Amino acid sequence: MILLGVNIDHCATVRQARYRAAAGAEGGAVEPDPVAFALLAERAGADGITVHLREDRRHIQERDVWRLRERIATRLNLEMACTPAMTAFALQLKPEYVCIVPENRQEVTTEGGLDVVGNRDRVRACVEAMNAAGIKASLFIDPGAPQIELSAELGAPFIELHTGAYANAYYSPARAGEFERLRAGCVQAQAAGLAVNAGHGINYVNIAEVRTLPHLHELNIGHSIVSRALFTGAGEAVREMKAQMNP
Ligand code: PXP
Repeated sequence: MILLGVNIDHCATVRQARYRAAAGAEGGAVEPDPVAFALLAERAGADGITVHLREDRRHIQERDVWRLRERIATRLNLEMACTPAMTAFALQLKPEYVCIVPENRQEVTTEGGLDVVGNRDRVRACVEAMNAAGIKASLFIDPGAPQIELSAELGAPFIELHTGAYANAYYSPARAGEFERLRAGCVQAQAAGLAVNAGHGINYVNIAEVRTLPHLHELNIGHSIVSRALFTGAGEAVREMKAQMNP
Protein backbone atom coordinates (compact mmCIF):
# COMPACT_ATOMS: atom_id res chain seq x y z
CA MET A 1 0.00 0.00 0.00
CA ILE A 2 1.31 3.47 -0.89
CA LEU A 3 1.14 5.92 2.01
CA LEU A 4 -0.23 9.45 1.67
CA GLY A 5 1.42 12.46 3.24
CA VAL A 6 -0.93 15.44 2.98
CA ASN A 7 0.89 18.72 2.46
CA ILE A 8 -1.17 21.47 4.11
CA ASP A 9 0.94 24.48 3.07
CA HIS A 10 -1.75 25.89 0.80
CA CYS A 11 -4.34 25.92 3.56
CA ALA A 12 -1.94 28.32 5.28
CA THR A 13 -1.52 30.23 1.99
CA VAL A 14 -5.24 31.04 2.05
CA ARG A 15 -5.04 32.13 5.70
CA GLN A 16 -2.01 34.35 5.05
CA ALA A 17 -3.80 36.01 2.13
CA ARG A 18 -6.14 37.60 4.67
CA TYR A 19 -4.49 37.36 8.08
CA ARG A 20 -0.77 37.90 7.46
CA ALA A 21 -0.75 40.65 10.08
CA ALA A 22 -2.42 38.47 12.70
CA ALA A 23 0.70 36.38 13.35
CA GLY A 24 0.26 34.34 16.48
CA ALA A 25 -3.51 34.68 16.50
CA GLU A 26 -5.64 31.62 16.01
CA GLY A 27 -9.25 30.53 16.26
CA GLY A 28 -12.23 32.83 15.76
CA ALA A 29 -11.92 34.82 12.58
CA VAL A 30 -8.42 33.62 11.72
CA GLU A 31 -9.22 30.99 9.16
CA PRO A 32 -8.60 28.54 7.67
CA ASP A 33 -6.52 26.87 10.39
CA PRO A 34 -4.00 24.45 8.85
CA VAL A 35 -3.96 22.40 12.05
CA ALA A 36 -7.72 21.83 11.77
CA PHE A 37 -7.16 20.85 8.12
CA ALA A 38 -4.47 18.37 9.23
CA LEU A 39 -6.80 16.78 11.77
CA LEU A 40 -9.52 16.36 9.11
CA ALA A 41 -6.93 14.86 6.75
CA GLU A 42 -5.89 12.36 9.40
CA ARG A 43 -9.51 11.41 10.05
CA ALA A 44 -9.90 10.77 6.31
CA GLY A 45 -6.91 8.44 6.19
CA ALA A 46 -3.80 10.59 5.73
CA ASP A 47 -0.75 8.67 6.89
CA GLY A 48 1.21 11.79 7.68
CA ILE A 49 1.16 15.57 7.56
CA THR A 50 3.73 17.52 5.58
CA VAL A 51 4.58 21.20 5.96
CA HIS A 52 7.26 23.39 4.47
CA LEU A 53 8.51 26.03 6.88
CA ARG A 54 9.97 28.37 4.31
CA GLU A 55 12.59 30.96 5.14
CA ASP A 56 10.20 33.74 4.08
CA ARG A 57 7.34 32.19 6.14
CA ARG A 58 4.98 32.81 3.25
CA HIS A 59 2.50 30.17 4.35
CA ILE A 60 3.27 27.88 7.29
CA GLN A 61 4.44 29.69 10.44
CA GLU A 62 6.58 28.32 13.26
CA ARG A 63 3.59 28.38 15.54
CA ASP A 64 1.67 26.11 13.13
CA VAL A 65 4.49 23.59 13.20
CA TRP A 66 4.61 23.47 17.01
CA ARG A 67 0.83 23.10 17.21
CA LEU A 68 0.97 20.27 14.66
CA ARG A 69 3.70 18.60 16.68
CA GLU A 70 1.36 18.61 19.66
CA ARG A 71 -1.89 17.76 17.95
CA ILE A 72 -1.43 15.29 15.12
CA ALA A 73 -1.58 11.56 15.73
CA THR A 74 0.20 10.37 12.60
CA ARG A 75 3.67 11.53 11.53
CA LEU A 76 5.02 14.99 10.97
CA ASN A 77 7.20 15.56 7.90
CA LEU A 78 8.99 18.90 7.97
CA GLU A 79 10.21 20.13 4.59
CA MET A 80 13.19 22.38 5.17
CA ALA A 81 16.12 24.08 3.53
CA CYS A 82 19.55 22.70 4.25
CA THR A 83 20.65 25.55 6.54
CA PRO A 84 22.08 25.62 10.07
CA ALA A 85 19.01 27.54 11.31
CA MET A 86 16.54 24.99 9.94
CA THR A 87 18.67 22.08 11.15
CA ALA A 88 18.64 23.54 14.66
CA PHE A 89 14.88 24.06 14.45
CA ALA A 90 14.29 20.46 13.35
CA LEU A 91 16.45 19.10 16.14
CA GLN A 92 14.31 21.00 18.64
CA LEU A 93 11.01 20.05 17.02
CA LYS A 94 11.85 16.39 16.47
CA PRO A 95 9.47 15.57 13.62
CA GLU A 96 9.40 11.93 12.54
CA TYR A 97 10.68 12.97 9.10
CA VAL A 98 12.43 15.87 7.48
CA CYS A 99 12.55 16.38 3.75
CA ILE A 100 15.48 18.51 2.68
CA VAL A 101 14.49 20.77 -0.19
CA PRO A 102 16.22 23.52 -2.13
CA GLU A 103 14.90 26.95 -1.37
CA ASN A 104 14.99 30.01 -3.52
CA ARG A 105 13.17 32.99 -2.10
CA GLN A 106 11.85 34.12 -5.48
CA GLU A 107 10.23 30.87 -6.53
CA VAL A 108 6.48 30.39 -6.27
CA THR A 109 6.91 26.78 -5.15
CA THR A 110 9.79 24.31 -4.94
CA GLU A 111 10.82 24.31 -8.56
CA GLY A 112 13.69 21.86 -8.88
CA GLY A 113 15.27 19.10 -6.89
CA LEU A 114 18.03 19.53 -4.34
CA ASP A 115 21.49 19.45 -5.91
CA VAL A 116 23.05 16.88 -3.59
CA VAL A 117 26.12 16.55 -5.81
CA GLY A 118 26.83 20.29 -5.72
CA ASN A 119 26.13 20.64 -1.99
CA ARG A 120 27.61 17.38 -0.76
CA ASP A 121 29.13 18.64 2.50
CA ARG A 122 26.14 20.72 3.59
CA VAL A 123 23.74 17.88 2.84
CA ARG A 124 25.96 15.35 4.56
CA ALA A 125 26.10 17.50 7.72
CA CYS A 126 22.32 17.83 7.77
CA VAL A 127 21.69 14.12 7.16
CA GLU A 128 24.20 13.14 9.85
CA ALA A 129 22.59 15.50 12.38
CA MET A 130 19.16 14.01 11.63
CA ASN A 131 20.41 10.43 11.76
CA ALA A 132 22.03 11.11 15.15
CA ALA A 133 18.73 12.53 16.46
CA GLY A 134 16.63 9.62 15.17
CA ILE A 135 14.84 11.81 12.61
CA LYS A 136 14.46 10.16 9.22
CA ALA A 137 15.83 12.40 6.49
CA SER A 138 14.61 12.41 2.93
CA LEU A 139 16.32 14.26 0.08
CA PHE A 140 14.02 15.88 -2.48
CA ILE A 141 15.81 15.24 -5.76
CA ASP A 142 15.24 15.03 -9.48
CA PRO A 143 15.48 11.46 -10.74
CA GLY A 144 19.09 11.63 -11.97
CA ALA A 145 21.47 8.73 -11.36
CA PRO A 146 24.33 10.74 -9.72
CA GLN A 147 21.93 12.45 -7.27
CA ILE A 148 20.40 9.13 -6.26
CA GLU A 149 23.76 7.42 -5.90
CA LEU A 150 25.15 10.17 -3.68
CA SER A 151 21.97 10.34 -1.58
CA ALA A 152 22.52 6.70 -0.64
CA GLU A 153 26.23 7.29 -0.02
CA LEU A 154 25.49 10.17 2.37
CA GLY A 155 23.38 7.87 4.53
CA ALA A 156 19.92 9.32 3.92
CA PRO A 157 17.30 6.63 4.52
CA PHE A 158 14.82 8.19 2.06
CA ILE A 159 14.67 10.16 -1.13
CA GLU A 160 11.63 11.96 -2.47
CA LEU A 161 11.62 12.02 -6.25
CA HIS A 162 10.50 15.36 -7.69
CA THR A 163 7.52 14.61 -9.92
CA GLY A 164 7.13 18.24 -11.05
CA ALA A 165 8.78 17.87 -14.47
CA TYR A 166 6.60 14.83 -15.17
CA ALA A 167 3.45 16.66 -14.01
CA ASN A 168 4.28 19.69 -16.17
CA ALA A 169 4.86 17.44 -19.19
CA TYR A 170 1.69 15.44 -18.60
CA TYR A 171 -0.17 16.74 -21.64
CA SER A 172 2.89 16.86 -23.89
CA PRO A 173 4.95 14.31 -25.83
CA ALA A 174 7.69 14.63 -23.15
CA ARG A 175 5.52 12.82 -20.60
CA ALA A 176 6.66 9.28 -21.47
CA GLY A 177 10.31 10.26 -21.12
CA GLU A 178 9.71 11.98 -17.77
CA PHE A 179 7.80 8.97 -16.48
CA GLU A 180 10.62 6.67 -17.56
CA ARG A 181 13.14 8.85 -15.69
CA LEU A 182 11.03 8.50 -12.55
CA ARG A 183 10.62 4.76 -13.03
CA ALA A 184 14.35 4.23 -13.52
CA GLY A 185 15.02 6.44 -10.49
CA CYS A 186 12.72 4.34 -8.31
CA VAL A 187 14.47 1.15 -9.41
CA GLN A 188 17.95 2.59 -8.85
CA ALA A 189 17.05 4.02 -5.45
CA GLN A 190 15.53 0.81 -4.21
CA ALA A 191 18.58 -1.17 -5.33
CA ALA A 192 20.78 1.32 -3.43
CA GLY A 193 18.81 0.68 -0.25
CA LEU A 194 16.85 3.92 -0.27
CA ALA A 195 13.16 4.10 0.52
CA VAL A 196 11.39 6.05 -2.23
CA ASN A 197 8.82 8.80 -1.78
CA ALA A 198 7.60 11.09 -4.52
CA GLY A 199 5.83 14.40 -4.73
CA HIS A 200 5.05 17.70 -6.41
CA GLY A 201 2.31 18.30 -8.92
CA ILE A 202 0.55 14.99 -8.31
CA ASN A 203 -3.17 15.37 -8.92
CA TYR A 204 -6.42 13.44 -9.38
CA VAL A 205 -5.59 12.80 -13.06
CA ASN A 206 -1.92 11.86 -13.10
CA ILE A 207 -2.21 9.72 -9.95
CA ALA A 208 -3.47 6.85 -12.14
CA GLU A 209 -0.01 6.65 -13.72
CA VAL A 210 2.11 7.86 -10.79
CA ARG A 211 0.82 5.08 -8.59
CA THR A 212 2.29 2.50 -11.01
CA LEU A 213 5.85 3.63 -10.24
CA PRO A 214 7.72 0.74 -8.61
CA HIS A 215 8.77 0.65 -4.94
CA LEU A 216 6.81 3.72 -3.83
CA HIS A 217 6.66 4.17 -0.08
CA GLU A 218 4.76 7.46 0.18
CA LEU A 219 3.38 10.24 -1.99
CA ASN A 220 3.31 13.80 -0.66
CA ILE A 221 0.41 15.67 -2.17
CA GLY A 222 -0.75 19.17 -1.33
CA HIS A 223 -2.01 21.59 -3.95
CA SER A 224 -4.47 19.28 -5.66
CA ILE A 225 -6.01 18.09 -2.37
CA VAL A 226 -6.44 21.63 -1.04
CA SER A 227 -7.87 22.66 -4.44
CA ARG A 228 -10.28 19.73 -4.54
CA ALA A 229 -11.42 20.51 -1.00
CA LEU A 230 -12.57 23.96 -2.18
CA PHE A 231 -14.95 22.33 -4.62
CA THR A 232 -16.15 19.43 -2.53
CA GLY A 233 -16.89 21.92 0.27
CA ALA A 234 -18.21 24.87 -1.76
CA GLY A 235 -21.88 23.90 -1.81
CA GLU A 236 -22.04 23.32 1.93
CA ALA A 237 -20.18 26.56 2.69
CA VAL A 238 -22.66 28.63 0.66
CA ARG A 239 -25.70 26.80 2.08
CA GLU A 240 -24.49 27.43 5.64
CA MET A 241 -23.90 31.16 5.09
CA LYS A 242 -27.28 31.61 3.37
CA ALA A 243 -28.98 29.82 6.25
CA GLN A 244 -27.27 32.01 8.82
CA MET A 245 -28.20 35.17 6.90
CA ASN A 246 -31.85 34.17 6.95
CA PRO A 247 -32.40 32.08 10.05
N1 PXP B 1 6.97 17.35 -1.83
C1 PXP B 1 7.81 18.41 -1.73
C2 PXP B 1 9.22 18.16 -1.30
C3 PXP B 1 7.37 19.73 -2.00
O1 PXP B 1 8.22 20.77 -1.89
C4 PXP B 1 6.02 19.92 -2.36
C5 PXP B 1 5.52 21.29 -2.64
O2 PXP B 1 5.58 22.07 -1.52
C6 PXP B 1 5.18 18.79 -2.41
C7 PXP B 1 5.68 17.53 -2.17
C8 PXP B 1 3.72 18.91 -2.72
O3 PXP B 1 3.53 19.40 -3.99
P1 PXP B 1 2.04 19.76 -4.47
O4 PXP B 1 1.58 20.87 -3.58
O5 PXP B 1 2.24 20.18 -5.88
O6 PXP B 1 1.22 18.54 -4.30
